[in-house]
Amino acid sequence: MNEVYEFDWVKVADFDEMSSFAAKLYERQLLRKPDSVLGLATGASPVGFYEKLVERHAQGTFSFAQTHTFNLDEYIGLQPSHPTSFHNYMEEHLFTKVDLPVTSRHLPDGMADDLNEACLRYETLMRISGGIDMQLLGIGINGHIGFNEPYTSFRTRTHIVDLADSTRTVNAKYFPSKEAVPRQAITMGIETILEAEQIILLAFGEQKVEAVERLKSGVISEDFPASCLHRHPHVTVFFGK
Ligand code: GLP
Repeated sequence: MNEVYEFDWVKVADFDEMSSFAAKLYERQLLRKPDSVLGLATGASPVGFYEKLVERHAQGTFSFAQTHTFNLDEYIGLQPSHPTSFHNYMEEHLFTKVDLPVTSRHLPDGMADDLNEACLRYETLMRISGGIDMQLLGIGINGHIGFNEPYTSFRTRTHIVDLADSTRTVNAKYFPSKEAVPRQAITMGIETILEAEQIILLAFGEQKVEAVERLKSGVISEDFPASCLHRHPHVTVFFGK
């Protein structure tokens, strides 16, 4: 597990092209294996991806009927129906628009009485579903993936995190104020993410240029969580600005 792999770098002309390319990969995955387990992400980066995937699904060539999905992360303390919860994001962008059964949609439970138990339960559920075939990722400006902030151990499984101040500042745009941004979240760990068969990273835009450059350097270090991806043999990075 100490090998270092090069990514499959795909430079895209614009956000739309990135979204189409990524949606095609997911479509192909579902055509090849209708009972795939898909890892999903939230944030601005995958919005176009979900749009394209929903459009392609509407053409009737593939179905989510046998698919399971697992999201990377969720805030702690927000009800699923809260407008800025990741549960709500997924309802809005994908779940209400495709034939994915309600019982097959999974996100960490940030409202659980016992949050540690919720993390373990999430790991168990992923394992018994057969493990993730294709994991979608965005990247934070500080290199976070999921909510794994800088200096997260590469050995982590699904766990509770304190959000970095910079992450709360960036995500404040979705809330009435920065104060309203939760201070904690549950996220898949780095080790969890690296177990996916294939990983697709969306890193488009001016704000992501520095993070992309850092990834291109190939240096692997816990102060830049996404650098762990160089330990994975099948990572595609869509980038551009
Ligand atoms: C968020 C999420 C990440 C996401 C990242 C980038 O805080 N937890 O999963 O990839 O930040 O977000 P965006 O795509 O909006 O730039």
